[in-house]
Amino acid sequence: MHQDERGHTLTTQSSEAAAFLDTSIHNFLHWKADVMPHISASIKADPEFGFAHVVSGLVLHGARNVNYSGNIKQAISAAHLGAKAMSERELLYLKALEAGAAGRIAQAVTCYETILLHNPRDLFAQRLSQMELFWIGEMKWSAEISQRSARHWSADVPGYGIHLSCRAFDLEEIHEFQTAEELARQAVEIDPTDAWGTHAVAHVMIMQGRYNEGITWLEGLKGHWSDVNQMQLHLWWHRCLFHLELGEFEEVLEIYDTWVRNRELPLLVSVPDLYIDMQNGASMLLRLELRGVDVEARWNELAEVTLNRLNDHTSPFTSPHFAIILAASSRFIEADQLLEAMKIFAKADDGTLGPRYSAAAIPASIAAIAHRKKDHQTVVDILMPARQMLWQMGGSHAQRDLFFLILADSLQHLGQDDLLGIVLDDIEHAGFTDAASRIGYQAENLQPH
Ligand SMILES: [Fe+2]
Repeated sequence: MHQDERGHTLTTQSSEAAAFLDTSIHNFLHWKADVMPHISASIKADPEFGFAHVVSGLVLHGARNVNYSGNIKQAISAAHLGAKAMSERELLYLKALEAGAAGRIAQAVTCYETILLHNPRDLFAQRLSQMELFWIGEMKWSAEISQRSARHWSADVPGYGIHLSCRAFDLEEIHEFQTAEELARQAVEIDPTDAWGTHAVAHVMIMQGRYNEGITWLEGLKGHWSDVNQMQLHLWWHRCLFHLELGEFEEVLEIYDTWVRNRELPLLVSVPDLYIDMQNGASMLLRLELRGVDVEARWNELAEVTLNRLNDHTSPFTSPHFAIILAASSRFIEADQLLEAMKIFAKADDGTLGPRYSAAAIPASIAAIAHRKKDHQTVVDILMPARQMLWQMGGSHAQRDLFFLILADSLQHLGQDDLLGIVLDDIEHAGFTDAASRIGYQAENLQPH
C-alpha cells in the first residue's frame, strides 16, 4: 500500500498510480495549473484506483461548470467500481464528491470535517472544505475548521506553508487582519510561489486601504507565478483593484488586456470561461464603467462564452456576473433567460444552493440588469432589502463589494444621499477601513450623470 506526501494511505497496488496522484494533489494544493494530466496518468496506471477517480471528479467539481457534470458523473461511477477496496478516508471523499456535485455543499463539508477530525493534516480536505465554504459565504465555518486542524501542524509536515495560507485567508475573511497577514507572509516566505498566501495579503491590503503597498507587494512576487493556475490572473485582478482605487485607470486597462482577459494566454485558450476568470472580467469592466471609463468592446468576448452557461447553477456568486455580462453587451433577452432559469432552479433545489440563489444571486442579478437599463429605482428597491443577504452568494468581501458599488451608484442617481450613509456603514461592517474615502463611495465621484 502507498501513501501521499503527508502519510495518508492511497489504496492502489500500483506505485506509479500512487505517485502520479500524489503529484496531482500536490500541484492542486500549490495552485499549479498542471493537475489533470497527472490524474489521467494515475488512472491509466491503475484504472481501478477508486480514489484517483474521486480526485478527478473533485477537481472538475471545483471548476463550477455545469458542462462538466457528465464527466463528474462518470468519475463517480468509476470510483464506485473500486469502492470496495477504498479506505474509510477515501470513501468519505467520494461521499463529499457526490454531495458537492448534487449541490448539497454543507453535507460535503461535513465529510471533510470528519476526514480532518481523524486526519487533521489532510491538507486536501482542508483546501476543499475552504473552497466549498468560500463559494457559499460561510467563512466563519471555514475558519473554525482550519483552527481545529492548526494545532496538529508543524513546519516539518509537507505543505505547512499551504496550511498557513489557507488559514490566513479564513482569518482575513473574518476580519482578523493582523494574524491573517502574519501567517500569509510566513507562507510566502516558505514558498514565494504560494499564490494563496500572496492573495491573502493582497486582500488584507485592499481592506485596509493600503493601495500603493499592495501594488509593491504584487509587483515583487509576480515573477513567481509562471506555473500558477488561474489564481495568477486573479492576483492581477487584485492589482487592478489597487490601481482603480488610486484612479489609475490606464494601468487597470493595460493589466486587464495583458492578463485578466488576455484570450491569447494559454490558461484562457484552454479554458476561456472558468468561473473565476469570468468574475474577474465582469467585475473589473463594471468597476471601470462606474468610474466613467469607456471599456469599448471588451464585454463581447465575455458574453460569447457566457451564452452556453445560461442554465449553470453551480455558483450563486458567478451567476450574477453572467447577468452583468449579458446586460452590458445588450443581450437582454438572454439575461432574462438566465434569470428565469435561476428562478426555476431556486424553487426546485433542495440543496445548499437553491436558497442562496433566492436570497442573493437572483436579487443581485435583477439589480445588475436594471442598473444597465438605468432603472435605478428597481436597483434600490431590490438591493436595499437584499443587501444584508448578499453574503450568501459566496465570494470575498472585496468581490461582493461590486454589488454595493452598483447600489451606491443608483442611490446617487436618485439623489438618495441619506440611504448612501447606510451603504457606507455596510461597507465598513464588511471590513473596509474608511469606506467613505474609497473611490466608488466618495460623494464627488458619485455625481448623477
Ligand atoms: Fe481575491
